[in-house]
Amino acid sequence: MANLLEINNLIKVYNKKIVLNNISFTVKDGEFLSILGPSGCGKTTLLKILIGIEKPTNGAIIKKGKNIVNLDVSKRGMGIVFQNYALFPNMTVLQNVAYALKIKLKNKNNAEKAALEMLKMVNMEEHLKKYPHELSGGQMQRVAIARTLALKPDIILFDEPMSALDADNRLVLRKELKKLQQKLHTTMIYITHDQEEAFSLSDRVMVMNDGNIEQIDIPNVIFNHPKNDYVRNFVTNHLIEKVSSIEKCTGIDL
Ligand SMILES: Nc1ncnc2c1ncn2[C@@H]1O[C@H](COP(=O)(O)OP(=O)(O)OP(=O)(O)O)[C@@H](O)[C@H]1O
Ligand SMILES: [Mg+2]
Repeated sequence: MANLLEINNLIKVYNKKIVLNNISFTVKDGEFLSILGPSGCGKTTLLKILIGIEKPTNGAIIKKGKNIVNLDVSKRGMGIVFQNYALFPNMTVLQNVAYALKIKLKNKNNAEKAALEMLKMVNMEEHLKKYPHELSGGQMQRVAIARTLALKPDIILFDEPMSALDADNRLVLRKELKKLQQKLHTTMIYITHDQEEAFSLSDRVMVMNDGNIEQIDIPNVIFNHPKNDYVRNFVTNHLIEKVSSIEKCTGIDL
């Protein structure tokens, strides 16, 4: 796989506080990269800079060989899915997905056809005429994903897209997302607090801490060969949490 993105020496300073501390990494074409790290370590800031909602204090974002750091959001070929679905409340499912497509394609029928195609792909074809308030959290997130996919971005950024869902829904949507990614080969960069999610979905996982990248590697290496104490503790703490939640649910002392 060739590199689709190269992030070079990215720095972000907010009010004299260094939020991203000179980070560099690459993302391959078609890769699923998860970002893990504690609250406040700079994950969302990184995504906002990649898509262009925020400007970095310093550094370059090279996409297909070109520095896109000064390029407008709409010209970067990226889409983003947030935790809170951000659907238009006064539009149906179909209208939500078709809205941006109408502007892009300048043709209502073609836009609706393409929107329908995407909604089928996320198993929402039975809900086309419903409004967001008539949907479950998982269904709303499927619409948000379809809306982003419909514009055919090269890269989709996800900022904790499952965190408002219950465990069952999360598992179902996680499997669907994996299938979708395997089918479309869209490059995905995915922030999550859920290590299991990161390890099961990703080609590689990036562990961040306080504006730095501690390690970026395939899940197996992160898990079995953590590069330093920080990553080791991060992975181990998750296991301890997991065991104690199983103990709580089952009453069995592990
Ligand atoms: N617009 C802003 N102005 C000033 N400081 C900001 C701004 N946005 C983020 N920060 C600060 O930057 C740091 C990183 O924030 P960020 O939202 O990137 O964290 P995060 O890793 O996504 O955390 P979480 O897991 O809680 O979502 C935090 O200390 C935050 O307070
Ligand atoms: Mg965040």
